Parts: sequence; structure tokens; C-alpha cells
Amino acid sequence: MNYRHLLVFIAVICLCACQAPEGERSVQESSSAQSLKSAFADDFFLGVAVSANHINGNKPREMELVAREFNAITAENSMKSMNIHPERDSFFFDEADRLMVFAEENDMHFVGHALVWHSQQSPWLEKITDSAEMAIALTEHINALVTRYIGKVDAWDVVNEALNEDGSYRESNFYKVMGRDYLLHAFREAQKADPEVDLIYNDYNLWKPEKRAGVVRLVKWLQDEGIDVDAVGMQGHWSLIGPDLSDVEASINAYAELGVDVLVSELDVTALPNPWDLEGAEISQNFEGSEYMDPYRSGLPDSVQLLLAERYEDIFRLFLKHRDKLTRVSFWGVCDGHSWLNGWPIEGRTNYPLLFDRSLKNKKAYDAVMALSNLEAEE
Ligand code: XIL
Repeated sequence: MNYRHLLVFIAVICLCACQAPEGERSVQESSSAQSLKSAFADDFFLGVAVSANHINGNKPREMELVAREFNAITAENSMKSMNIHPERDSFFFDEADRLMVFAEENDMHFVGHALVWHSQQSPWLEKITDSAEMAIALTEHINALVTRYIGKVDAWDVVNEALNEDGSYRESNFYKVMGRDYLLHAFREAQKADPEVDLIYNDYNLWKPEKRAGVVRLVKWLQDEGIDVDAVGMQGHWSLIGPDLSDVEASINAYAELGVDVLVSELDVTALPNPWDLEGAEISQNFEGSEYMDPYRSGLPDSVQLLLAERYEDIFRLFLKHRDKLTRVSFWGVCDGHSWLNGWPIEGRTNYPLLFDRSLKNKKAYDAVMALSNLEAEE
């Protein structure tokens, strides 16, 4: 045995000794997959939210990356009522249409986001105070969007963020005018407009037990009323320290028990302090320019890069464990430089929540996630 053979022999012995217990995926084994979408092709769609700036031709490298790594796409802002239906009688479909062409060319699953949402809402819709008029306006809005994209949009976020943290109904303008019936109306109209399309209820903090109970109540009610709800979308705006993944797991199980698919629809992991994690902090307090709240302006320290990779590894381990229930995992943004978390909840920070850095290079977190894909799923 020459020296090189000996080295290979030792390496093989080490690999065998380090192997995870049978059936478990471990990051010690390197991935042979070439992209996120191929790595998880047998598990769930791997999606990404894309902005107008990307689709308008200003970001060709980013769009190349999107086509290479992902097989599902969500319009980050282009299909919100404010943008796509700015006045009662006028629509602006250009951006959504362009995204749709890109998705078709690259054979991607398309998610329409979002038909009914209190935020980024058209002013004309927000002004309506009569219940019958609101029902008509919602019908028109939903009909126009859903019928235009029949056969192109695979799934719609029908209603976004309708619940408070305690699981009660949010006092949105829709709720104030129509009560909870606006939800039923929206799902009914979407189902009527395209009986084939998937209907999603989407919201944040869906790992919280009280909110989880609220979603279960809501979906059961819709189902009792004859709505074929296809999925619950858990947004997944998480951090290095929370939520506890056992809460996420409990929610995945609770939603799956309703007989619907579970999605992680807007995944990102903030690396920065959150105002509401600070003892006694007022979210409304002005943190802009605060160095304490924006500690990594000149780069993410290796130690935090590692924490992010470990957090993503834990998160994807859980996703893989529940791949029979999860049908899509979508990231909210292409790379760190474009993430909405650079501007929210505090303007002008430098955040690192995604798998690709500002120069579009794979981060350690990307490697950690990819390495998981190589092994057999846990039983
Ligand atoms: C965010 C976009 O990423 C930003 O560009 C925009 O300025 C505000 O909205 N929950 C949602 C998404 O459902 O639509 C939000 O997207 C992030 C929170």
C-alpha cells in the first residue's frame, strides 16, 4: 500500500466511524447535488420570492441564480393589491406577467401572493365601508387576478395575516366591514374562479400555540363551509434564537391533521437583534442608526456565520423529518443584499438572513443545508 492509498484508507475508516445512526441525515457527508432544487427534489418545492427589480432586467445574475437553485417562485410585491390593482378600474399586470414568463421558461411552480391582505393595500379598497360593496370589490379583485392567471398560478395566498397573536381575528378594514365572513367570501370566490388552483391561508408566527389554535379554528370553519383549503403557509420569519423548533413541529403536525398541506412560505433567519427581544424596548422607539442594533455593518463574524449555518441545519432537519407534510419551503428573497430585513423592523441595517451573500456566493448555511440532502430521511 503506497502513501496515497493509506490516506484514502484512513479517510474511509474515519467516515464510517463518524456516520450518523442509520436513517439519520448528517452534515458530515458532503452533498453531491448541484442545487437546492435538485437536493430536495424528492422532498418539497424549494422556492424564492422575487422582486420587481429582479424581473425588470436589472438583476440578470440574480435571475440566473434563481433559475439554477429554485423550482418555485413567489412575487415579492408585484401581485399585492396596491401594485397590481392600484385603482378600482385599472390594473398593472406587467411585472406579474413578466415573472410568469420567467417561471414558465424555467418550469417553476408559481405562487400568487396575496389576494386579500390589509397591508400594501390599494387605497380605493381600504376606503370601502359598506359590507355589500366590500363583497363586490373583493369578488372583482379576486376574479380579475385568478382568472387572468388560470393555468399559470399554481397556488394563491388567498388571505394573508388575518389573525392576531392570540388567535383572534385581526381588526383589519375587511373584518371591520364584513366580520369574519370576508375570509369565507375570499376563499369561495377564488375557488369559483379557478377550481383547480391551490388555496392557501398564509400568516406569521404560526408556531405560537394560541395562533395555531386560531388557524385550526379558521381552517375547520372554512372546511365546514365547503371550502377545499389546500394548505396553511407558515411564513417563517425566524431568528438565530427563536422560535423553538418544537413549537414549529407542533404546528406542522396540527395543520397536517386538518388534512391540508403545510408550507414554509417566507423563510429567513435574522442575524440581528430584534427590538422586541430587548427588555423593556418600545418597538416604536427610534433605533435607526443605532450601532447596538446594527452590529455587523462591515461583515458577519465567522462565529455568527457558523451559528446561522447551525440554525439552518436544525431547521432543515425538521423540515426533512416532516417532508410527508411539507410541500414547499420558500425563502423570502434571493440574497442577503436584497432581503426586506435590511429595512425592517429598523431601516438601513445590514442583515444576513439568507443562504446567498451579497455577492451571490453560497454561505456556510447553504453548505449545511445541502449536506443534509444527501442522506436518507429519518424514518
Ligand atoms: C415584504 C416585502 O418583502 C417588502 O419588499 C415590502 O416592502 C414589504 O413586504 N409578510 C408578507 C410579505 O406576507 O408580503 C412581506 O413582504 C413580508 C412579511
